[in-house]
Amino acid sequence: MEQEKTEGKTTVYSRTVMTEMIMPNDTNPMGNLMGGYLMRWMDIACAVCAARHCGSQVATASVDHISFHSPIKLGEVITLTATVTRAFNTSVEIYVEVLASEITGQNPRQCNHAYFTFVAIDPVSGKPTAVPSVIPLTNEEKKQYEVAVRRRELRLILAGRMKPEEATELQNFFSQLKPGNSVG
Ligand SMILES: CC(C)(COP(=O)(O)OP(=O)(O)OC[C@H]1O[C@@H](n2cnc3c(N)ncnc32)[C@H](O)[C@@H]1OP(=O)(O)O)[C@@H](O)C(=O)NCCC(=O)NCCS
Repeated sequence: MEQEKTEGKTTVYSRTVMTEMIMPNDTNPMGNLMGGYLMRWMDIACAVCAARHCGSQVATASVDHISFHSPIKLGEVITLTATVTRAFNTSVEIYVEVLASEITGQNPRQCNHAYFTFVAIDPVSGKPTAVPSVIPLTNEEKKQYEVAVRRRELRLILAGRMKPEEATELQNFFSQLKPGNSVG
């Protein structure tokens, strides 16, 4: 049976900002934030964002590549901003960006970013349920929205849930690539 979706929502509705100060218990023996703690906070910020957008409980389905660009030191402050980029049928993609700075705001820098996928869970059946669409407004949101389809295909292929020959958006994208051509 076709599940009903509620009306689309803009990203402002669910954007989630989370701030943490790095305490001694959060660090490794070199005095830097443990990567696993950062991933936990990223997961929490993204889950809150996804649940706000979906209006339901959500489960983390996958996390795309995460790399750590810059160590975050004891006493520094991090700000995680999670934004929904696109909704599919029962899943949503969330982009999270992590900025670090000294507590005074000096030495600000981007440390991480990642894409998380969450699935909305129906409270009665415990099964995936339809999600509201995303209404992108700014140019950056429109770009994220457009490219999200290709990121989805790639992650489903890597998860063994899609055959490469079914990834039509990726195929179209790569077929446009010719020497000297630049595509977004
Ligand atoms: C995520 C989960 C709910 C998917 O359930 P499922 O029965 O496989 O559901 P479906 O096959 O119907 O897929 C549901 C959605 O998940 C998406 N999905 C499933 N696996 C995915 C993956 N590895 N990456 C991205 N999306 C994925 C599907 O594409 C589908 O999205 P769509 O409806 O928008 O197209 C289920 O695998 C699960 O409960 N996993 C454990 C979640 C968990 O414990 N997370 C960590 C703690 S919260």
